[in-house]
Amino acid sequence: MESRPDLAPHEAAHLAVVRQLAPQCMVLLRSDGTFPLSAPGTVALYGSGARRTLKGGTGSGDVNSRHVSTIEEAMTAAGFTITTTEWLDAYDALHARAREEFLDRLRTEAAQEGVPAVIHGMGAVMPEPEHDMPLSGEGEAAVYVLSRVSGEGNDRRAQPGDVLLTDAEVRDILELDARFERFLLVLNVGGVVDLGPVAHVRNILLLSQLGAPVGEAFTDVLLGRAYPSGRLSTTWAPWDSYGGVGEFGHPDDTRYTEGVYVGYRYFDSVGAQPLFPFGHGLGYTTFALGAAEVALDGSALTVRTEVTNTGARPGREVVQVYVSVPAGRLDQPFQVLAGFAKTDELAPGASQELAVAVDLADLASFDAASGQTVLEAGDYLVRLGTSSRDTDPVAVLELDERAVVRVVHDALGDPGFTDWMPTSPVAVEVPDDLPRLRLDPGCLRRRDDGEAVELSEELSFVAELSDEELSYLVLGDYRTGGESQSIVGAASQTVVGAAGQTTTRVPGLASLIMADGPAGLRLAAEYGVDDDGAFPLGPSVPADFLELWDEEASEVLGDIIGADSQDRAPTSIHHQWATAIPIGTAIAQSWNPDLAERLGELVGAEMEHFGVHLWLAPAFNLHRSILCGRNFEYLSEDPLLAGRLAAAITRGVQSRPGRGVTIKHVAANNQETNRLNSNSLVSRRALRDLYLRGFEIVVREAGPHALMTSYNLINGVHASESHDLNEVVLRQEWGYQGLIMTDWVVHGMARHDLTHPPATAAPTVKAGNELFMPGSEADRQGVLAALDGQGETVLTRAELELQAARVVRAVWRLAGR
Ligand code: BGC
Repeated sequence: MESRPDLAPHEAAHLAVVRQLAPQCMVLLRSDGTFPLSAPGTVALYGSGARRTLKGGTGSGDVNSRHVSTIEEAMTAAGFTITTTEWLDAYDALHARAREEFLDRLRTEAAQEGVPAVIHGMGAVMPEPEHDMPLSGEGEAAVYVLSRVSGEGNDRRAQPGDVLLTDAEVRDILELDARFERFLLVLNVGGVVDLGPVAHVRNILLLSQLGAPVGEAFTDVLLGRAYPSGRLSTTWAPWDSYGGVGEFGHPDDTRYTEGVYVGYRYFDSVGAQPLFPFGHGLGYTTFALGAAEVALDGSALTVRTEVTNTGARPGREVVQVYVSVPAGRLDQPFQVLAGFAKTDELAPGASQELAVAVDLADLASFDAASGQTVLEAGDYLVRLGTSSRDTDPVAVLELDERAVVRVVHDALGDPGFTDWMPTSPVAVEVPDDLPRLRLDPGCLRRRDDGEAVELSEELSFVAELSDEELSYLVLGDYRTGGESQSIVGAASQTVVGAAGQTTTRVPGLASLIMADGPAGLRLAAEYGVDDDGAFPLGPSVPADFLELWDEEASEVLGDIIGADSQDRAPTSIHHQWATAIPIGTAIAQSWNPDLAERLGELVGAEMEHFGVHLWLAPAFNLHRSILCGRNFEYLSEDPLLAGRLAAAITRGVQSRPGRGVTIKHVAANNQETNRLNSNSLVSRRALRDLYLRGFEIVVREAGPHALMTSYNLINGVHASESHDLNEVVLRQEWGYQGLIMTDWVVHGMARHDLTHPPATAAPTVKAGNELFMPGSEADRQGVLAALDGQGETVLTRAELELQAARVVRAVWRLAGR
């Protein structure tokens, strides 16, 4: 990378790291071998993402980077001549007009609903506009960059310009594919787009959204200076083939009737053909896998194979192991991902032996009848390959009797329905010429860890505190003064733009500073300093919210979002540019825990630099539906892939002493519609086998310092107010020893006309969730009333002391005593 005098040293170094790693997150979906280009030449460049290239999505995960390299800019800098400037200019004008109309529509809808436009429009997707502009440019190649954005606060829609392509996009893409010998369709998107009408186009690159150096990373790959080696972390299929079994996006209650049949578990079990299956991805070269060697030691299965680069360019292959678990009392999806490994860079002709490790106990399913997680008797068919639809059976594991893996609690409620299952599932054929290995049921048993850590010193510390002080400890820090309080983005005076912090009101106890993620560290890009200290310049909200900021927003949200410092005159202005890294889905597409760990280290270094203790990331709710507006932040439709990658990010961040992650949002937070108060109705099996499993992997493998419960209810109980979730599953069953906090319950943001009211502080604390965020005086009065026996919830001093001691434990661990 050329030296950039305007960059701070950490910025330059971190941009270089992201640029170098990013190609591993890109997925080449189709290729006819005409790319990469050998040298920069003349190119006809089209599409919404060519000039307005997206680094990530919107909302609390939007990172303030100094600069985002766009595709047009990076290609020009690399020496390309772009012949379509006129088209790009005209598209800009079209887009600007469409944006104004869109914002007007949101304002009208908000007025009808009686909420500030900024709340109504948060994360709303503006569909790409239709047009009939001619494709006039010439060149040695054509590139069409299709982009889609989404974000926190709203879900996506199955409509043209969002999940579906517009007529203009289909027309232009097909015409370019027909007209140019070399044509590349580039997808600068955060989630699945229905590619049905263009799926046969010869070259398709899922660029994804790769953080600040996205344009440069793309240009490296276009010119063959780097190569894509990502694989899909979610199934890509036409919108109407996702099955539509379960409900999605209901404001009050959403029934997850599809049970465990999510993503490829559904497609494979019903025999539906996706466009691009889970695990799929090409490169600029080809690979061959050698014969598999399978070894079993207790519950540890190892599948070895030699991977050889059989093509003419360097590359990396991802080897994937799937297992078909036999159906017995429980129905089972056709197969599940059980392990994976990625090669190093292999030169043409070079080979590498990979060993994929599988812990068979991870394949256990929850059996509601016995309250256990079990592996049932039968033949377990092991497959090895390079995508969920490109595998060979390599071994059979025989289990003679049902094995109990864990005895678990009857927890998390009942949704009131029985899960759907396919009426005629695809049969698993077990070939009779495979090696057969015997599984010993005794080796599969696991014991609960229990929350082993003693809190005696912390309990002695809190025993000396007054009720008032205890009540502050279980809430995020907030300012008081008249009606005002501080929340999102302004809670921290110490690190401006941090999302919150623990209390500053207990003498002798440090305060933990928290900043958002997951696509890097979210801080205010700019802040002012006057005689009273640092303060935000304007409301510290993501840039796209500002478009809808109006007087009503200032009235309703002004103080709480930090606009109350507007009248202060800075004596100096300072910057806090952070490095935007690839979005969660793109990190998962690397299928490379080492890469995820390096990105975690990078964020950990920036946390140290800016003085942040807890990063509110990684986020990895499952991709249950492609419509979820926050899928781009999340990792995958598969809990093993998501869990392994999130564990690696966690290790990276936490390799820095005093820095911790906050894994979020636990659990079943799979839609944005009425996100504060929607009730996810989901079976205990789907919860344990899918929605909790990724979090469990991170807790057991990587010991995250903190965890954030989700806004939604699970089977009628808010996640934060669920004793079953906080105390029983997380602490007793998983042995979780870190801090548990809520998502940001901001009064004024929730709709109150719906069935389920927002979570409140006293029942949350009582349920073992020790930090109600971001905190307000009203929340504290609720806690004190509960302590006085006056509220609906009764809180004893001993209960409050225990929760406060847990906060103290986290503070001492990260910020010292
Ligand atoms: C989001 C969280 C975020 C928090 C703090 C909430 O609205 O759901 O993901 O960490 O705000 O900004």
